[in-house]
Order: sequence, then structure tokens, then C-alpha cells
Amino acid sequence: MSGLDVSVFPHDFAWGAATAAYQIEGGWNMDGRGPSIWDTFCHAKGRVFEDHTGDVACNSYQLWEEDLKCIRQLGLTHYRLSLSWSRLLPDGTTNHVNPKGVAYYNKVIDDLIACGVTPMITLYHMDLPQALQDLGGWSSTEIADIFESYARFCFKTFGDRVKLWITVNEPYVCAKLGHEDGIFAPGIKNPGISVYLAGHNMLRAHTKAWHTYNTHFRPLQAGQVSLALNSDWVEPLDPGCPKDATAAERYKDFTLDWFACPVFCTGDYSESMRARIETRSLDLGYKQGSRLPRFTKSEPSPLGTADFFALNYYTSRKVKDLNDGSKKNELSFEGDQGAEGVVDPSWPICGVHWLAVVPDGLRKLLKYIKDMYTSLPIYITENGFSQMGPVQIEDADRSQFYQDTLQEVGKAISQDRVNVKGYFAWSLLDNFEWSDGYSVRFGLFHVDFSTPELKRTIYRSGPYR
Ligand code: GAL
Repeated sequence: MSGLDVSVFPHDFAWGAATAAYQIEGGWNMDGRGPSIWDTFCHAKGRVFEDHTGDVACNSYQLWEEDLKCIRQLGLTHYRLSLSWSRLLPDGTTNHVNPKGVAYYNKVIDDLIACGVTPMITLYHMDLPQALQDLGGWSSTEIADIFESYARFCFKTFGDRVKLWITVNEPYVCAKLGHEDGIFAPGIKNPGISVYLAGHNMLRAHTKAWHTYNTHFRPLQAGQVSLALNSDWVEPLDPGCPKDATAAERYKDFTLDWFACPVFCTGDYSESMRARIETRSLDLGYKQGSRLPRFTKSEPSPLGTADFFALNYYTSRKVKDLNDGSKKNELSFEGDQGAEGVVDPSWPICGVHWLAVVPDGLRKLLKYIKDMYTSLPIYITENGFSQMGPVQIEDADRSQFYQDTLQEVGKAISQDRVNVKGYFAWSLLDNFEWSDGYSVRFGLFHVDFSTPELKRTIYRSGPYR
């Protein structure tokens, strides 16, 4: 990559790429893997673009060594991958361990380390074992303890070599798209209720896993654990309009703050979020207690349960007030939020419709996190640029995107004094992009899904730094 001044980045900066198990592995029913909610969701038809599935995906389960070649070719120092919970524990519980799943991840981890690449491992990236969904999934109270056992198993099995852990990836997306909008697995549409319950149980699960690591594994393994939070950078649509300014605050309350406030600030949801939900529940005649669950004293607090801040940033939004809009009398997350994020017409869209390219939004967000939440190191655990339509291996626009983005990260480090420790491009490979199937390509390597070899070809933007 030309033109980027890498001297502002610390010498031990993590230059990485990220993937997630369901999006790349395939081998959905091989060697004892149990089904996950994404298998069920895709197989149900009509839910994913052209009924694409992750049954084969990039076949990384069988082609791991091809992935390793890609990682080496890019000279990455770090690789972020996720574990398929149901490949390791087919019914989600430690009652039954799948030795072939353990062997697969042992090989991946050992190969990475042998090549001098540091693994960062995500325990949960959207793919709950179906057997646990059948017991209520993220809506059930018990899930937090079951997750803690899974996390304990992973720390015990892999933690001698893995020192960077993410418990849950993007609780916002899992809760909102999976339990409110129903467009991600498990496809639940229960507006204004399940979303908060699922988010709450993810936070409880994360908290228990962090405490388990802190008490039982950190003394020997000396690693670090966090959760990956996604956030747009947001500003009021009309900076002179007080209603838009308040709406932008509410937008943050219901996105980044929803999870960051309990973990980094107070141990609880923000007072403004709670007040907003309680008031609207009363106004709408909802009488079955609080829709936003409470943390109880009998469980450990989420406060302080992160050893670094893991940020997934893709885009920015201008926020306008929706308080008196069509959702006003609707029991829903968006009604509660009372704010709408819109794309500034000057921002280019890259590929998928929601992805407006705003590199300086990342710099602003990094500074905001430092000022508002924590002085802990920040890893940018995902950031990327997508392609749709005809494949362009010569993707000059994506090369430019990486250059512009990394320049902004460099400014955050050198001018705003933000302690950014690493950057993981999403994604190493073109892969199964959830409800968009294979129609959206985020890879540093192109994958030819039309042939069984699934050949990987580097994009021009691949060596992104
Ligand atoms: C994130 C998610 C990734 C990837 C990316 C691009 O929300 O963690 O799995 O799909 O978005 O849309």
C-alpha cells in the first residue's frame, strides 16, 4: 500500500484481518458438528438472498491451509477468527465435546503461532447452537451460565496459546436484527421486548465469562478479554435543531451506550435509556414490568469486565428526530429510540446500501470512546468496504478506502492521543454475508464460489497497509 505513513503506528501495532466461523467454515454437518441457528435460518428458505447458505461457504473447515497462505501472503501480525460453538459442543453444553472440532481449532491456532501470527478468538459470532435456541436461546435466563461453561471450556482448551479473547461479537446486531427485526437468525420478531432481553442475557453471559477468566485463568494464562461493540459515528442532522441534537443522544443511548455504559461507565444501562423505555411502556399501556431488564445484586456486575475496547466500525449517520413520527405509538425498539439515522448525500456508498464511506467518522468515534468511556487500549476489531455486482479484482476504490481510513486512525493516534493497538480488516475472504448471502463481498481475497475449489485470489486492495 502506498502513501500511508506507518511511522505513527506503534511498532507492536496489530495488523490483522477478521472472519467468523459460520461465514467461512462450511462443513456444516461434518465430523460431528451440531446445527446452529444460522443453519436452521438458511435452510428454512426465503430468508437469505437467493436462499444462499453457509453449508459450504469458503470451506475453511477443509481448506484452512489455503486461508493460512492468504494470511501469510499479506504479512498479517494478527488474525481474528471465531469458534463455532456447535462444532466444539454439538448440543451447546459441555456434556458432549466433539474431539474433531477441538482438533480443528488446535491446528488453526498452532499453525498461526508457528507462522508468527497472533490469534484473537471470538467465542460467539452470531451462531448459537440450535439445541440452545430450542431451550429459549438468548431470551432464556439460563443461557448466561451455559455460555460461561462454554467459555471456561475454551479458555481451558486453547488459553495456553490464545491471549486475546472476544466473548460476544456485536450484541446490538444479534439482539436487534435477530430478535426485533427477525432478519438475522433466529428470526424472532417480537418488537420492543425480546431485543432488550437478548441484549441483557448477552451482557450477563459476557460478564460471567470475563469473571471466570479473571479469577481462574488470568493468573496462569495472562490474556485479555473483551466484547466487540459495533457503532456508527453519529451527529445531529441539523446541528442547529435541538430536537435533532437530543435525537442523536438517544440514538447513541440505544446503540453503543446500551452495552458500553454497563461495561465501562456505571454497571447499568444509562438512566436516559431506562427512563425513556419506562415512560413509553406506561404511555403505551404495557403493564408486564420493565421491558429493560435489571442487573441483580446476586450476580457479578458488568462494570469493568473488559481488558480493552473492541470496536467494529463501518459507517456514520446523521440523526433526525422521530419522536412524533409514525413509530410514536408503536411498541418497538425504534419507537423507543425515537431517532432515525440517515446517510449524508455527500457520502459515497460502497456496495451494500447501508455502507456509506466515512473514514473520518472512525477518528471521531475513537476520540469519543477515549473521552467518554475508557483509556484502555482500543482494537478496531472490524472495518471494511464491500463490493457488489461484477467482481473487480483491481479494486482501486477499496485501496483508497483503506488508505484514507488508516490515515484517520493514524491521526487518532498521533494527534488525538488515542491508544489504538490494532486494526482488523473485515474480512480476510469474501464470505457468507448473512442475509445478503454471497452477493456482498468484503474480502481482501476474492473467493470463487462458482467452482468447488473455492479458489482464493488476492484483490489489489489485499495488502491493505
Ligand atoms: C458485522 C459482522 C460481520 C460482518 C460485517 C459486515 O456486523 O460482525 O460478521 O458480516 O458486519 O457486514
